Amino acid sequence: MEAWWRNSIGYIIYPAAFKDTNGDGIGDLGGIVEKLDYLRELGIDLIWICPIFASPMHDNGYDVRDYFHVDPRFGTDEDLARLLKEAHLRGIRIVLDLAMNHTSNEHPWFLKAVEEPSSKERGYYIVKKGRYVDGKLLPPNNWGSFFSTSAWEPLPGSVDEFYLHVFAPSMPDTNWANPELREAYYGVARHYIEMGVDGFRLDAISHLAKNPEFKDSPLPSGPGGFVLDPRMFSNRPELMDYLKEFREKGVNTDTLLIGEVGGSVQPDQARTFSERGKGPINLVFNFDTVWNNGAYGSIGKPDEAIKADVISLKENFLRWYPNASSCDMPLYWCNHDHPRVLSQYGSTLYRKESAKMLITTLLFLYGTPFIHYGDEIGMSNVTYESIDDFLIDDANRDELKADRSAGHSDEEILRFWRRANRINGRTPMQWNRRKNAGFSEATPFCKVNGNYLEGVNVAEEMEDPYSILNYFQYAISFRKDATYNDIVNNGRLEIVDYNHPDVLSYIHRGSSNIMLISNFRPYEVYFTFNYEIADIVLHNYDGVLLNNHVFTLRPYECYLLKIR
Ligand code: NOJ
Repeated sequence: MEAWWRNSIGYIIYPAAFKDTNGDGIGDLGGIVEKLDYLRELGIDLIWICPIFASPMHDNGYDVRDYFHVDPRFGTDEDLARLLKEAHLRGIRIVLDLAMNHTSNEHPWFLKAVEEPSSKERGYYIVKKGRYVDGKLLPPNNWGSFFSTSAWEPLPGSVDEFYLHVFAPSMPDTNWANPELREAYYGVARHYIEMGVDGFRLDAISHLAKNPEFKDSPLPSGPGGFVLDPRMFSNRPELMDYLKEFREKGVNTDTLLIGEVGGSVQPDQARTFSERGKGPINLVFNFDTVWNNGAYGSIGKPDEAIKADVISLKENFLRWYPNASSCDMPLYWCNHDHPRVLSQYGSTLYRKESAKMLITTLLFLYGTPFIHYGDEIGMSNVTYESIDDFLIDDANRDELKADRSAGHSDEEILRFWRRANRINGRTPMQWNRRKNAGFSEATPFCKVNGNYLEGVNVAEEMEDPYSILNYFQYAISFRKDATYNDIVNNGRLEIVDYNHPDVLSYIHRGSSNIMLISNFRPYEVYFTFNYEIADIVLHNYDGVLLNNHVFTLRPYECYLLKIR
């Protein structure tokens, strides 16, 4: 029998931003329960909820203080049980985000590790002695963290020891080489499996195993004496053993395990992790199709320099496609760590056209599609006027320091953040045109995007037959139709006119043949077409401009065709 996630449509919820029901300006589990019918109507079968466990929120819940309880901001353990029950009644499965690469520095394990050098908890973390150079105490090596700092922080109370943190200093890395630590995590997973959770998104999974030699990276260190070299702690061979053990001891065979393996994983490695029926995890998320427009690290560049690189998108989709014969795969444009896809590859000037084009392009590729909350109404990047609006994310405070000391002006930083910051993917969901977009009666924890007053909200889009929301629902219903689902899952994918710089086109050949043609530009382009149309399944414009085997494609125009 096919795994259930192969025929599911996923939806990503950043809980703080989804719907507030207790009036504190922060979304909660009650808010997700309230919107389950909405999600069911949209065609969603599976929800991945970003972290909900008790946390001081230095990294928005990825820094866990207590794995066994829901953070009071999000509700109670009973709310989680209610959510599971209500979701299951509607045929929706729930996947929780589990961060095991690190804990919060407020987790009792860490507090004990600091307090008692001989405690078993000390062995749950990675603690090493620093080096004296010219009489000065330096970290054990030159590893840098993802949060623009050294990856080492002095261990409180110790004269010469440091602990490792590949993310923020408030998130000490756990020591997966220690079997007792691993057992502790299996206990956490089993607890939620018993509650009825259907799967886990395993956060930062690629970093669980570190290079055990803890030597300097050969890359040149920056001015702070450190360098980010993910090879030191990413996708190492030991990781496979840890994941296998997690599957065996922590969860069931039909528990969905989604691994966040980031930007350094290659398709062949992903295959060993997720080979159908053999690999320990089921879906491997990489970032390869997220940043194909030059926006990543583009501080200092003008907006005009940012443009979707359509050929590179095709290359990346094609590079991963061979895995389809042996692996289940996720399909997504963006999540809570990225800017909004509408701003990345589409345009707010062509909001409807580009949002519809982007979802159609994604849905009929191979894999389990994941929609980031709000994409279904065309939510886009923020236009905040001040850097301060971004500082609700601690990671931005570190980045601000680093960018300023690298000589960037605040104006440049603001422009860059509006384009590429992850806050863009975390703003409150826009439910209607009432106060705070209907997200909360209280002041939201994060500024609402003002475009909810320009029709970008659920209530108004429900009323408009041509809205992005109605299109999403319609397109999803086709994707879930047994015939289309079979073509997409079991057919053969071909990219058409690979070298076309503006158009992404593919054919999926199966029991019948479907063809997608998408213009990624805000202007007209031409596309040669030598096929016979059997049916137009989806189209985001009125009228067909096809003459002498050449399509004129209007801004972001997109077709899903049945061809003979
Ligand atoms: C990946 C998560 O998606 C991101 O939001 C978080 O900051 C890091 N992992 C650290 O947990």
